[in-house]
Amino acid sequence: MWWRMRGWRGEAGGLPSYDAQVMTIDSTNNLLGLQGMDAGSIRALLAPAARLMENRRAFGRPLAGRTVVNLFFEDSTRTRVSFTVAAQALGAGVVQFGAGGSSVSKGETLLDTARTVEAMGVDALVVRHSSAGAAGLIAEHVGAPVINAGDGAHEHPTQGLLDILSLAQSHDRLGGFDLSGLTVAIVGDILHSRVARSAIAGLTTLGAAVVCVGPAALCPDGIASLGCSVERDLDAVIGSVDAVMALRVQFERGAELGDGADGDPGDAGAYAMRYGITSERADRMKAGAVVMHPGPMNRGLEIESAVADGPRCVALKQVAAGVPVRMAVLLHSIGGDVGAGVAVT
Ligand code: NCD
Repeated sequence: MWWRMRGWRGEAGGLPSYDAQVMTIDSTNNLLGLQGMDAGSIRALLAPAARLMENRRAFGRPLAGRTVVNLFFEDSTRTRVSFTVAAQALGAGVVQFGAGGSSVSKGETLLDTARTVEAMGVDALVVRHSSAGAAGLIAEHVGAPVINAGDGAHEHPTQGLLDILSLAQSHDRLGGFDLSGLTVAIVGDILHSRVARSAIAGLTTLGAAVVCVGPAALCPDGIASLGCSVERDLDAVIGSVDAVMALRVQFERGAELGDGADGDPGDAGAYAMRYGITSERADRMKAGAVVMHPGPMNRGLEIESAVADGPRCVALKQVAAGVPVRMAVLLHSIGGDVGAGVAVT
């Protein structure tokens, strides 16, 4: 597979240091998902991300002269900007590709588009697409590393990593990223959520328990096969979890609130009442428990505005954590001789 992580060393006494001499990454280092990744590989990305969160210049600008292409076939605000800021912080140039205004409108296929961009000599492709498996398909056909920035309802691995980094930050687990003893409730539209799939995989691999909460139409029992438990009653779990991750109802991916039968909410008002993170619910959370949201938020539906802007909510800290996470991923994926430019501390 894609990781041969031997670069990040020495977790004793705080955050790990980077040993440039043993960084061995080749050009096939794709990051397509967190499902199937082992704990060591996940930690090997999170550890440098934590360093970079403390000091964005910790490793200098080792990607100077490199080019990263954001190949986005679907809309994005934070993920696209975050990858751009991350690549530039490491010295790389970034090219923005959007399907609108490109030859996609002339019928060019996904693979032809990707191969065309790669032929210009780029060092990494950051791919977002509305179809599950799109990033993986491109990775099979190009030589440059491919980083999945969200493929349909499949995976969004850098979001999963930044969720873990934020959770570790708020619960003092940055030292070794051991999340055992922590329980995270993921609430809402799990069915259509690539964020949920990546988060469940990453969180459980590092030892956290995950409970998915929502109506059957958006959180079917089969979700449990991902390694979490399933609960219908938010109020039954809200007081005992260490974090609640509210998810947007993804209507553009076919989400429906149900028909009111079998306990499904049926309409937005009923949904907000049963599954919304309200102030009243936030007040019942444990001391130190946090409210997370990957964004974009639908205020008043899955989260009340007062909670989104309140002291428990770490949504903007998640956004902030996204930059060092993507810096760490780009460093590992592009790899090659970058080690030569990395300051050893
Ligand atoms: C999410 C996405 O696009 O997958 N946003 C994000 O990248 N932070 C979540 C969503 O669309 O609701």
